[in-house]
Amino acid sequence: MNSHMSHGSAAKDTREMVQFPPDMQTHFLGNMRDHLQTLNEIVDALARDDYAAASKAAAERLGLDSPSAAGCRPPSLQQVSRPPGNKSPKPMTMEEMMEAYMPEAMRGIGLSMHTAASGLAKVAMTQDRAGTMAALSHVTQNCVSCHSSYRLR
Ligand code: HEC
Repeated sequence: MNSHMSHGSAAKDTREMVQFPPDMQTHFLGNMRDHLQTLNEIVDALARDDYAAASKAAAERLGLDSPSAAGCRPPSLQQVSRPPGNKSPKPMTMEEMMEAYMPEAMRGIGLSMHTAASGLAKVAMTQDRAGTMAALSHVTQNCVSCHSSYRLR
């Protein structure tokens, strides 16, 4: 068995189980599928030496300022904030739910991934192939790191 196959074997799943409310899980997994699609678009753009397209996809769909990063930003950077003990009848926003249910360490990995994607967007604009590929692998390392630590089901 190679080292690849020994990871995440069904026999011993050591990932931490995190429970999200159903709406939040649906939203989260939808973001995940968009992450993979974006990664695919970035790799495809780089294969065609289209650095501008790779940079744009990284910034707009994975970077710190992308909508998908909202739930991973530290509370101080969140646009929504509610005073303690707030009894607002309004339902929680998705960002508030992420803040409430996502373990701190998991959010940290998410933030690293979004930060790495912003770094990728920046270095891709220099058209430095080696630097861009290194930045891309920094993004995927964070996908792998979170997936090997957490599960929702
Ligand atoms: C902060 C943690 C975290 C990060 C970072 C992360 N993921 Fe995920 N992802 C998860 C979890 C948790 C699941 C659900 C695993 C399970 O229980 O099935 C998941 C599931 C997925 C799925 C399956 C979606 C579905 O509909 O079942 C895809 C695809 C995916 N992630 C892609 C990515 C890609 C690509 C990246 C990096 C660009 C990424 N993820 C980064 C935590 C993360």
